Amino acid sequence: MNKKISFAGPSITEKEASYVLDAVWNGWYENYDNYVKKLEKTFADYIGVRYAIATHCCTVALHLAAASLGLCDQDEVIVTDFSWVATAYAIKYTGAKCVFVDIDPDTWTIDPSCIRKAITSKTKAIMLVHTFGHPADMEEILKIAQEYGLYVIEDAAPSIAAQYKGRRVGSFGDLSCFSFQGGKMTVSGEGGILLTDNETLYEKAKLLSSMGRTDSQAAFWSDKLGYQYTMNNITASLALAQIERVDELLDKKRQLFSFYYNQLKTIKGIKMIKEKEGYMSNYCYPSLLLEGYSKNQRDSILDKLKALNIHARPGFPQMSRFPEFEQRFENPVARMVEERGISLPSAANMTEEDVDFVCKSLLSFL
Ligand SMILES: Cc1ncc(COP(=O)(O)O)c(C=O)c1O
Repeated sequence: MNKKISFAGPSITEKEASYVLDAVWNGWYENYDNYVKKLEKTFADYIGVRYAIATHCCTVALHLAAASLGLCDQDEVIVTDFSWVATAYAIKYTGAKCVFVDIDPDTWTIDPSCIRKAITSKTKAIMLVHTFGHPADMEEILKIAQEYGLYVIEDAAPSIAAQYKGRRVGSFGDLSCFSFQGGKMTVSGEGGILLTDNETLYEKAKLLSSMGRTDSQAAFWSDKLGYQYTMNNITASLALAQIERVDELLDKKRQLFSFYYNQLKTIKGIKMIKEKEGYMSNYCYPSLLLEGYSKNQRDSILDKLKALNIHARPGFPQMSRFPEFEQRFENPVARMVEERGISLPSAANMTEEDVDFVCKSLLSFL
C-alpha cells in the first residue's frame, strides 16, 4: 500500500515543540495565561482588529458571537446553506432561527442576492462563512447589512490569512471567529478565537466566556449565566507558534493548490474553485465541482481514492435539510455542491509528487 495521503494535517517544527514545552514547564502561577494573552494580542494585530478572546474551539467562539449580540427566539439570522453544522448550531443555541440561503457557484460562499430575498422584519444578523479559505463578497454583504441595520458575523474558521480586496478576512464583521482544529492551516489540536473591533461586544463576549465573571468582582461571584469557553495556556502556546509561521504555512497551501490547478484546470468535467480577481484565498481545502456527474458517481470516485489511501472529502450536506432546521429556500447551488463537490487533500506534509498521484488517480476514475 502506498503512503497515506491525509486530507489535512499540520506542519510542526522545533518552534511549536519549544513553546509547548515552555508552557508545560513554566506556564503556571504568575505565567498561567502568558501564552493566551500573547496569542490574543498577536492574532488581533495580525487580522487588524482591537480585541480577541481565545476559546477552546471555534464552535464556542461562534456561540459567544451570537450570544453577545443578544439573539433570542424572536430573531432570524440569515446563514449560508453550505458549511459545517457548527455555523448554524451556534445560532440555534441562542434560540434564534436560521434562514438558510444559497451560495455563489464560483466561491461556494453566501450569495448576497439571496440574502436580500430572505430579509424579514425579524432578521437581526447575517452569518457568513469564508468557505474553505475563499473570502465571501464582503462589500455586497456589508452594503446589505448597513441598508437593513443587520449585524454581521464572519465564520472564518478555516480562512486565516485570506484577503478580500487587500484586507484580511475577520476584520469586516461586527464579530469574527477562527478555528485551530487539527485540520486547519494553523492548528492547536482544538482551539478557536473570537475577534471584534467593538468594545461593547468584546466586554459582553468576555463576560459570557468565563462563567459571567469579571476580574473586578468578588471571588466566585457570577453576574450572568455564562460559559466555560476560554482556551488553556498550553493550547495557546501551540497556536501562537503556528501564527508566527502563518506566512510560510500560507505559501505551502497556495503552492499545493497551484500544483492541482496546473493539472486539472483544462480537464473537461472539472471546475476548480479558484480565487476571484481581488480576492486572496488561503486554499485551506482545494476544491472542485464534477460537472455532469451524479452524486453516486462522485461518491464512487471518493471510495476509489480512499482504496488508494487518498483521503478526499465530499461537499457538506445542506444544513437546511437537517432535522433541527426548517427549509425556507431550496438553494439549488448548495445542493449541487453537496452532491458533486470534492475537496482534495492538502496536508502540510504533501509533496508535488503526492499531488501528481492524487491527480493521476482522480483522472483515471473520471
Ligand atoms: C466553517 C466552520 N465553522 C466552524 C467550525 C468549527 O470549528 P471547531 O472545530 O474549532 O469548533 C468549522 C470546523 O471545521 C468550520 O469548518
